Amino acid sequence: MIRTEQVQDYVQVKQMLIKAFQSEAESRLVEHIRSSPDFIPQWSIVSETDGIITGHIMLSLGEVIDDNRSYRVACLAPLAVDPAYQRKGIGGELIREALRRCPQFDIPFVFLIGHPSYYPRFGFVTAAHYGFQLKQFEVPAEVFMVYEIEEGALNRLKGELRYSKAFLELE
Ligand SMILES: CC(C)(COP(=O)(O)OP(=O)(O)OC[C@H]1O[C@@H](n2cnc3c(N)ncnc32)[C@H](O)[C@@H]1OP(=O)(O)O)[C@@H](O)C(=O)NCCC(=O)NCCS
Repeated sequence: MIRTEQVQDYVQVKQMLIKAFQSEAESRLVEHIRSSPDFIPQWSIVSETDGIITGHIMLSLGEVIDDNRSYRVACLAPLAVDPAYQRKGIGGELIREALRRCPQFDIPFVFLIGHPSYYPRFGFVTAAHYGFQLKQFEVPAEVFMVYEIEEGALNRLKGELRYSKAFLELE
């Protein structure tokens, strides 16, 4: 079952994130995002199997600056599936559901930093090819990807992506 995360899920989501990433950094990121103005509750989504939280995905609001104007976008991070439940399609289901929930929020794009062998199957393309820059994090060009929500937006809009401040507050 894929559904919106509830407050009662927070403890299980945290434990699952630590298992999947073998680190506490991503669960701290999720906590930062939840308490930031860039949090949208419908964008924190879990997968549940027999009452157990098996996966989680989060989108948060970001901003693209192009010359003197800016527009709101979504940034996908983190995504995790419990190692015991990986390679069963749960990650894919979470991504598709998150993308389905975007049009109602009037954002043209979803951005992410991720593995270039995984995300293109869902429609993500290399952001730099469409005139987007990322200066907050130093990453190889091929891992910075974008998904078009609003038809035609990739041919119309560009600029520098700024992730939510929640991403910059991690120690
Ligand atoms: C990435 C992740 C969410 C995928 O979840 P999943 O439920 O196993 O994904 P799906 O079952 O939908 O897809 C499985 C496919 O993803 C590929 N895949 C999984 N993790 C991958 C990775 N880190 N890089 C590249 N490909 C990956 C698998 O090879 C598999 O492809 P195949 O079926 O063609 O062999 C999961 O492996 C995970 O939680 N990893 C640890 C945390 C992480 O790295 N998150 C992503 C960065 S934010």
